[in-house]
This record gives sequence, C-alpha cells and structure tokens, in this order.
Amino acid sequence: MAVSQILIADDDTAIRTVLSQTFSRAGYDVRVTANATTLWNWIARGDGHLVVTDVVMPDGNSFDLMPKIRNARPDLPVIILSAQNTFMTAVKASEAGAYDYLPKPFDLTRLLAIAERALAERGEAEPASAQSANGETVPMVGRSPAMQEVYRILARLMHNDLTLMITGESGTGKELVARAVHDFGKRRSGPFVAINLAAVPKDMVEAELFGHEPGVLGQTRARLAGRFEQAEGGTLFLDEIGDMPMDAQTRLLRVLQQGEYTTLGGITPIRTDVRIIAAANRDLRALIRKGTFREDLFYRLNVVPLRLPPLRERSEDIVDLVRHFLAKAVDDGLAAKTFSSEAYEALRKYPWPGNVRELENLVRRVAALYSQETIGADIVAAELGAADVPGGVGEFFTPGPVSNLGVAAESYLARLFELAGDELPPAGLYQRVITEVEAPLITAALTATGGNQIRAAALLGLNRNTLRKKIRELGIQIVRGPR
Ligand SMILES: Nc1ncnc2c1ncn2[C@@H]1O[C@H](COP(=O)(O)OP(=O)(O)OP(=O)(O)O)[C@@H](O)[C@H]1O
Ligand SMILES: [Mg+2]
Repeated sequence: MAVSQILIADDDTAIRTVLSQTFSRAGYDVRVTANATTLWNWIARGDGHLVVTDVVMPDGNSFDLMPKIRNARPDLPVIILSAQNTFMTAVKASEAGAYDYLPKPFDLTRLLAIAERALAERGEAEPASAQSANGETVPMVGRSPAMQEVYRILARLMHNDLTLMITGESGTGKELVARAVHDFGKRRSGPFVAINLAAVPKDMVEAELFGHEPGVLGQTRARLAGRFEQAEGGTLFLDEIGDMPMDAQTRLLRVLQQGEYTTLGGITPIRTDVRIIAAANRDLRALIRKGTFREDLFYRLNVVPLRLPPLRERSEDIVDLVRHFLAKAVDDGLAAKTFSSEAYEALRKYPWPGNVRELENLVRRVAALYSQETIGADIVAAELGAADVPGGVGEFFTPGPVSNLGVAAESYLARLFELAGDELPPAGLYQRVITEVEAPLITAALTATGGNQIRAAALLGLNRNTLRKKIRELGIQIVRGPR
C-alpha cells in the first residue's frame, strides 16, 4: 500500500517541527508549511491524504479554506488544531466539515490515533452540513481541559442523531448541553421538547410521553399529544431518566427499538423521528444493580456517554463563568461589577456542591445586593458563609437570636433599601426575598429529616417533586445523615 501523505500547516515553528517529526516517525510522508496559501495549492493539486492544520495563519484562516476544500476534495479529512478553545470553535470546526478538532495543547498520541482512523475511514466521511449556526451567543462557557473534552464530544454529535446520555451532578449544565446539541445540530429547525421524569407523577409518565386517546385516563376527555409527538422532527430531552418507572422504561425501550409507538388507548402504531438525549444526576449503574433501572434500556441510551465535570474539578473556569454571569446581570438591568483577584481566589477554594448553578446564583445575588463596583473577598466569604448556615441571610440581620420572621424580614428589607441609597433596589425584589427564605427553610427541613426528601416534603407540606425541583433550583446541598 502506498504511504499516506500528511499535509501540515501551522505558523508556529515549534508545533510544525513536532508534528513533522511525529508523523515521519510513524511512517507517513509529510509536507509542512506555515501558510494557508501553500496548503491550498497542495490540496488543489490533489496532493495529500490528510490535512492537519492550525486555524489562524498569517495569510488566511483554515475555517475560510474549508468550504473550498470540501468542494474540491470532499473525501480529504481535515483535522483542525486550535488555540481558541471555546465551544464555538469546536462547533465551527464541525460545521465546516472538519474530521476532528483538537484544542491546543494537544496530545500527540491522540492526534496520531485520530489521523490513523481518519485515513482508514477515508471516503466514508459524512457530507458536511451546508447550514451554519446562527447567533453569536455562546451557550457554554469554560476553557478548562475538562470542558474542551466536552466540546469535542459535542462537536461530533452535530451532524448525526446518535443518542446522547449526559451524566453529572446537579447544576453542571446537563440541560444546557442538551439544548446546545439541539440548537447547533442538524435538527435545529425542529422542536426541542424536554420532560423531567422526576417531576411527572409515576402513573402519568407513559401518557405524558406517548399521549392518550380521548377519555382513557378518566380525568380527562380530550386527546393528549405526548412528548414524542410534540418532538417529532426535533429533539426529545428525557431529564432525570433514573426516575422513570419500570413499566414506562419497558415501553420506552420498545419504542426505541422499533421506532414506533402507540398512544394509550390507541391501536395504530405511529412512526417516530426524534433524537433522544437523556440525562441523569444519579448513577444509573447503581440503579441497575438495585433493579430499578433496565440494563437493556441503559445500553440503548448510553450510545454516546458524556460526563459533565463538577465545577470543583475545573476551578480554572470560574473567572470566565463569573464574567459571563456578570454580563448577563448587566443585560438584565443590574449595574456592571467586577470581582477582585482575592474574590476569585476565594471562589476557587469553595467546593461548589451546587456547581455552576450555585455560582450563577451567587453572582446574581451579589450583583443585585451590593452597591460596590468591585466585589472583594469579604463579600464572597460572607455570601459563601451565608450559604452554609441555615438562616442564610445572616449578614443582613442584626446580631442576636431572631424569634420573629416578620421582624427579620423587615430589618432585612430596611438594610436592602439603605444599601440602595437614593435609588430603589434592583427589580425582582419579590422573588429575591422569597428565595432568601426558601433556601434556609428547605435546608432546615432536610437537616431535620437526615436528608430524606420524602419526609422533608411531608414536613414542609410540599409535593415531593416540587421539593426536588426547588432543591435543584436553589442549589441546596443535601447532607444525608442518621435521623
Ligand atoms: N458551562 C456553562 N456556561 C454557562 N452557563 C452554564 C454552564 N453550565 C451550566 N450553566 C448554567 O448553570 C445553570 C444550571 O445548568 P443546567 O440547568 O443545565 O444544569 P443541570 O445539570 O441540568 O442541573 P440539574 O441536575 O439540577 O437539573 C443554568 O442556568 C445554566 O445556564
Ligand atoms: Mg437539569
């Protein structure tokens, strides 16, 4: 077999040298250049079996070159290396029809493996999508190695319908990822439909998913369209899949296997065309061992597994995230603020049990409550401390035991208006005050019941699903203990 030729383009001499040596040693024929024009000339002439290229070169950008390459040499795989390690770079590389995208610094062994695979698959490459993503809004923030790995996996999902299974602790961005896969994927013009299986009463799950005919469930006469029907042509996000009842699991598995379903009470099979994305913040393998989750369904859903790292494993993303949430707060009409480097230091040390959602809540709270333009470590410490203590809003209270919540609320509000000076506090006051009470209330109930959500819900007089939802929204950490 003829030796494959690799075309390498990068304006960084060191990288060029390393790449050239690596591929030569691996037995490939190598051509190296520092500019885009030379690369294009080689390609146009029909040289090379694989391209490994940087994005930005002195005389051009390889993203701009991609349509020409796709046009002239549709079977030529291109691996893009980039130092701009954002979600959008990964998406753009994928949309441009790149075979793969590797953030710099990259792992040479890995690059070699990808190159080998690309050469082996040559000719079977999927046609590149013509559409490009609209909107400049960046859905996901963070450039840590852990997030780049996430982006790489996501970029590979944009042009196919592979089932994605997202796992991650609460608040790590599972729903955000599901939406991004839809919004930037080939189904973006179809609907995105989400169902949270922890929030649907157990005996309603099948009807919610597959719909029912008139009169079937007694309490309602009308026909109900299920989520599968609503999501037709688009994406169906099955959130908290671990909470799905067994019967519904069996039915879902059958639908996934056969590509069709019947409504409850219906007899005609309906074909379905939806992309499935599932998410779980619980360990499904443990549920399989316990016998509450079907192993065969797990394997059906786990085609592309994606684990979202907890924030404490990527504290280098905190600066970007805080800036992002501060900018969002400004969009919502709050004053512009910055965090001091000591404040960032304090944020990096905190373990973030509620992950990005908890950080987002903290930034919003700080943006809304403090008049200072620069947020220092003292404010961060107070806010983080407040989150730990049941009683939450501590710093706003005058010291001493508080026996009357109404009095406490009054003093809290008085302090809030005082802080705002001549202005009014930022809009959204009602929700802010309610949230301040909700968090300590729920934390107290959970502490009193040793983290047992069923008992805590009973204690509070809340529906269990409502409680779960609030725990998530407020980023409350559940500490299980004997009680
Ligand atoms: N990488 C990120 N960049 C910007 N915002 C993020 C990122 N990750 C999460 N967020 C934000 O954090 C919040 C929580 O994210 P999301 O709801 O997707 O988490 P989740 O994993 O679904 O949580 P849960 O398990 O509690 O449902 C959202 O407001 C989301 O926009
Ligand atoms: Mg979620």
